[in-house]
Amino acid sequence: MTQEILVLGATGKTGRRVVQALDKTGAAVRAASRSSAVRFDWADESTWQPALSGATAAYVIAPDDPAAAAPFVDQAKTSGVRLVLLSGKALDEIPHDVFAGMHAAEEAVRASDLPWTILRANNFAQNFSEELWQPGIRAGRLALPVDDTPEPFVDVHDIAEVAALVLTTEGHEGQTYTLTGPETITFDTAVAKISAALGRPVELARPTPDEYREILLAEGLPEELITELNGMYEAMRKGLLATPTDDVSRLLGREATSFDTYVAGALDAWR
Ligand SMILES: NC(=O)c1ccc[n+]([C@@H]2O[C@H](COP(=O)([O-])OP(=O)(O)OC[C@H]3O[C@@H](n4cnc5c(N)ncnc54)[C@H](OP(=O)(O)O)[C@@H]3O)[C@@H](O)[C@H]2O)c1
Repeated sequence: MTQEILVLGATGKTGRRVVQALDKTGAAVRAASRSSAVRFDWADESTWQPALSGATAAYVIAPDDPAAAAPFVDQAKTSGVRLVLLSGKALDEIPHDVFAGMHAAEEAVRASDLPWTILRANNFAQNFSEELWQPGIRAGRLALPVDDTPEPFVDVHDIAEVAALVLTTEGHEGQTYTLTGPETITFDTAVAKISAALGRPVELARPTPDEYREILLAEGLPEELITELNGMYEAMRKGLLATPTDDVSRLLGREATSFDTYVAGALDAWR
């Protein structure tokens, strides 16, 4: 039977790579987001069932609004769709008001009687090149409330390959995989590696959480997001994200992508 797989967030960092990885397996892919061919909007419930209907499995990134999670999973039950949810490392130890959407999505998925798999990822390496940390690197000064606690940043290509595997093969039901890079590095080391590869200086400044809040407020970020980000950096400083796992290499049968390999492929993002 042809598998039809729904990919939410299909234009995002992981989703667009999940679509590419699924294409290679020959599965039929339904790429969905607000701007995709299949329209899916967490804020417009009428878009959910048309996207779900007839799909055998779905790659799900959590809604920002926690209230959307349970009703979405209820609709997935109606269609009998297997769910593969992207979540965050050590979510159990992170307060509920930080990443509320992700907490709600995990709870709804775990409580459902659908087959499900949860992919808990470390901070993406691509946060340096496609996200919040990119402007700082480009400007030559990244300011983050971090310390010397190391982290095994995970390459989103590895997340996408694992997601495609889990979406298209059996034996992953009820599993929670923790996806990390192969090695832990500090932010100092990460920035030094990027700086060396670029051949120009990039400084890492370490504001306090309060100073960081002021920096982000001046940049126009909303309070809610700033509180959430400070919650994430606190979890990082506590070491909750510091331990690597071998889930990527066990599932893919190859080593997880190193930070050096990631940097070599991402240089254009900082030029
Ligand atoms: N960054 C990290 O280090 C990290 C680590 C672990 C977990 N996560 C989790 O990963 C998730 C984000 O995944 P990502 O980084 O792959 O995505 P992303 O790059 O942040 O892109 C967001 C995607 O969601 C779509 N989208 C945005 N608002 C939407 C809405 N209202 N309704 C439907 N679709 C919407 C966007 O497309 P349109 O604009 O076309 O709708 C886009 O495809 C979050 O839950 C985050 O907490 C991130």
